[in-house]
Amino acid sequence: MIEPTRFNPNSKTVTASIEKSTDDKRFIRSYDINLKSEEFTEVINDIVKKYDIDEIVETGTFNGLGSTTVFANTGKYVFTIECNYNNFVTAIQNLARFENVCVVNGLSVSRKDLIDFLLNEKFDAETSYDSQYPKTFYMREIVHNVVVDDALSVFAKNNNRQIVFLDSAGGVGYCEFNHFMSFGDDILKNKILVLDDIDHIKHVRSVDSLKANGYEVNISKDKRFAWCDLSVKNTITKP
Ligand SMILES: C[S@@+](CC[C@H](N)C(=O)[O-])C[C@H]1O[C@@H](n2cnc3c(N)ncnc32)[C@H](O)[C@@H]1O
Repeated sequence: MIEPTRFNPNSKTVTASIEKSTDDKRFIRSYDINLKSEEFTEVINDIVKKYDIDEIVETGTFNGLGSTTVFANTGKYVFTIECNYNNFVTAIQNLARFENVCVVNGLSVSRKDLIDFLLNEKFDAETSYDSQYPKTFYMREIVHNVVVDDALSVFAKNNNRQIVFLDSAGGVGYCEFNHFMSFGDDILKNKILVLDDIDHIKHVRSVDSLKANGYEVNISKDKRFAWCDLSVKNTITKP
C-alpha cells in the first residue's frame, strides 16, 4: 500500500507534486481503482446467499475488471453504471462473456444534482482525496454525455432484492449516498448497501451518517469497504 501524502491547498503546482502542509488534514491517496480482493469476493458471495439477492446495481464500472467481475461471477443480474464513454466501451468488451451483466452508459444521479452538489462542496473533511483541486477534478468525471440520467432511481428505486454498490467519483459519493437513502424505508428494506473507499472523501461521511441513523455498519478487515443491511435500523426508544 502506498502511504498517503500531505495535501497542500496553497501549492500553486497543478500536477502531482505535493508538499507537506502545516495544519491541513487532507491527504492525496494512491490506490488500486479495481476492488477485487479475496475479502471483497467472499463478502459479496456471502451477502448474495444470506440475503437471497436477485440483482446487483453498481455505480462506477471503470474497466469492468474489478468489483464488476466479482459481481458478474455471482451469476446474479448485474446493472453497472458508467458515465465515461471510453470506460463504458472498455467494460463492455471486458465483460462480454457475462450474459448476466449489462453495462449502462449513465450518470448515477441527475447531472444537475451532481453539479449543484460539487459546486457547494467545501472539501474540508479530514480524509483523503484524489487531487489538490477536488472541485474541478471530480467535475471533469461527470460532464460526459450519457444515455441514462439519474440511473440509481431508474435501476434501484424498486422493491427488488438488490445489493447496491456505490463506487463512482470520489467527490460525488456522498451525493449518491444521500440520493439513494432518500428513496425511503419501504424501498431500502430490500437493499444491502455496499460502499467502497470509506477512508476517502467518497464515503467517509456516508458511514458516519449510517451509524448516526441507527444502522449497523460492517467494516472490511482492510478498512477499505463497508456493507449494511438497510432493513435493520435501531430506533432509539424514549423512556
Ligand atoms: C473508482 S472507479 C470504479 C471502480 C470499479 N467499481 C472497480 O472496482 O473496478 C469510478 C468510475 O466511476 C465513473 N463515474 C464517476 N462518476 C460517475 C457517476 N456520477 N455516475 C456513473 N459513473 C461515474 C468514473 O468514470 C470511473 O470509471
